[in-house]
Amino acid sequence: MEKTFAEEVAEGLSASPKFLSSKYHYDDEGSRIFQEIMAMPEYYLTDCEMDIMKNRAIEIYEATRFKGHFNIIELGAGDGLKTKELLRNLLAVGADFTFVPIDISEEAINLLVKSMQASLPELKMNPQVGDYFEVMDKVESEDDCPNLVLFLGSNIGNFRPEWAIDILQHMNEHMRSGDKLIVGFDLMKDPNLIRAAYDDSHGITARFNLNLLNRINRELGGNFNVNKFGFYSFYNPVNGDVRSFLFSKEQQEVEITATEKSFKFEKDEMIWTELSKKYSPSGIEKLGADAGFEFNQHFVDSKGYFSDSLYSKP
Ligand code: TRP
Repeated sequence: MEKTFAEEVAEGLSASPKFLSSKYHYDDEGSRIFQEIMAMPEYYLTDCEMDIMKNRAIEIYEATRFKGHFNIIELGAGDGLKTKELLRNLLAVGADFTFVPIDISEEAINLLVKSMQASLPELKMNPQVGDYFEVMDKVESEDDCPNLVLFLGSNIGNFRPEWAIDILQHMNEHMRSGDKLIVGFDLMKDPNLIRAAYDDSHGITARFNLNLLNRINRELGGNFNVNKFGFYSFYNPVNGDVRSFLFSKEQQEVEITATEKSFKFEKDEMIWTELSKKYSPSGIEKLGADAGFEFNQHFVDSKGYFSDSLYSKP
């Protein structure tokens, strides 16, 4: 049985050191703040992946070797701005596909569908709200065309290495032989650039992380005073880890009704909220192999900062 939000919060805030699972960043409010992060000049990831989708889309399509109808299944579709460029380019060369965006935020999916309909009226869409793997199975049971699965935006970087293998392995199990997978990886690079992307001076990233506490207040009846928490993040260029934290500015105790517990915080006690891992090309190839994929190709942006890497299920 999957743990509930309340159970995960209780577990993370009782642990030492404390942590909160990063998957809870993306409620509707979190998804909105993440749009702001993506629009920041320091957050180079968005522009780089946009560059790849604008300039390498046809090469990507050719590398899939798909001929007839196929599905483009996007896991965690978000606002779809980058994907739209890929889809636009594929439509322009007459590729025959249905776009299947999957997201856990209904608001995100509704906005995405509207935006796609407005700019690509000829696009065939089969939008889905829900669990990635359940939806992948459902889509596969409906027809037997090949699938191109997209897991973009460096989402993979938010999983610890062993979990990253696990989630790719899971995708693999829910794919058919010959299906393709593209995963977005932020590459290791000048550490100063990476640090700036995760610790912006406008405080947007801080707000994004503090939203976790607001979300606990909203959904679990917590009484966090977010003004009593700070945000800290750092990049370790040796292992490629960006780690983000909230910390308690004073000694305090917080009650969370749904957990039937209260949680004590020491002054300066840290809560780990996110890993954003940066990869080397060889690390990307190894990760795919560990998850049972055949590696095909890295599609890198013109600056060499980001890779959308293509794998096949053998
Ligand atoms: N998936 C994004 C990333 O790792 C999410 C993100 C951006 C993020 N900035 C953050 C998560 C800061 C936590 C803290 O790049």
